[in-house]
Amino acid sequence: MASPERGVLISGNWKMNANHFEALKLIQELSALLRSHGGVPEGREASVHPPFTSLRTVQTAIESDRVPLLLGAQDCHAADRGAYTGEISAEMLAKLNVAYVICGHSERRQHCGETDEQVRAKVDAVLRHGMRPIVCVGEDLAERQRGEAVHKVRGQVAAAFSKRSSEQIAAAVIAYEPIWAIGTGETATAADAEAMCAEIRDELVGIAGPAAGVARVQYGGSVKADNAAELLAQPNVDGLLVGGASLQAEGFAEIVLAGL
Ligand code: 13P
Repeated sequence: MASPERGVLISGNWKMNANHFEALKLIQELSALLRSHGGVPEGREASVHPPFTSLRTVQTAIESDRVPLLLGAQDCHAADRGAYTGEISAEMLAKLNVAYVICGHSERRQHCGETDEQVRAKVDAVLRHGMRPIVCVGEDLAERQRGEAVHKVRGQVAAAFSKRSSEQIAAAVIAYEPIWAIGTGETATAADAEAMCAEIRDELVGIAGPAAGVARVQYGGSVKADNAAELLAQPNVDGLLVGGASLQAEGFAEIVLAGL
């Protein structure tokens, strides 16, 4: 289990699912389930990351019903405003009381051509507006098979965090999401997840010293209710970034409470 100093963060990335009607239903179901278990316990946080069009609805539900969940977004633009048709700024997200913003998810790196430089600029924007970035890193299957996984992941971490202060790094979350494990049903073994999360922490400490080591490191990729507890039991796994299984209230509630 992660150190009490760092705490655990379980995040549900809804991806391009749940219009605002469906989002409201899901958040109400989740809220009722978590409440029936006494809420989210001390030392643990849970965030949900709906699509942009459902953010305001979920924000209102969370705030008016005191739902024990934090609001998250899936992406943002690096600039605060301007002629960027179709984009959403970090400033706009902060106004909705968004707490966590996913930056550089592999699906955006892959399908939208997001570069390490763009991801870094998004992290800047998120921090500038008082939110916390969840920076996604991870290798694809070919890179793993060639033995390049650690090099790739450390490189992505360095690209997002080099030359930052330990305070900035400590405010961030890094999600290790091996691309071959996303949406495939093939989860990394707990030992593989632990090994890479430890590499990531070591890279952060190398950048800004021991104080940077309190940044939380999540694992993501085919997390389900039945493998969550084993992953969370690893000393360097401080949380989970959940895709498909976060769209079902019961399964996600089980993951949020896994291992307790
Ligand atoms: P799955 O849990 O559906 O594999 O997705 C993982 C993910 O990409 C979360 O960001």
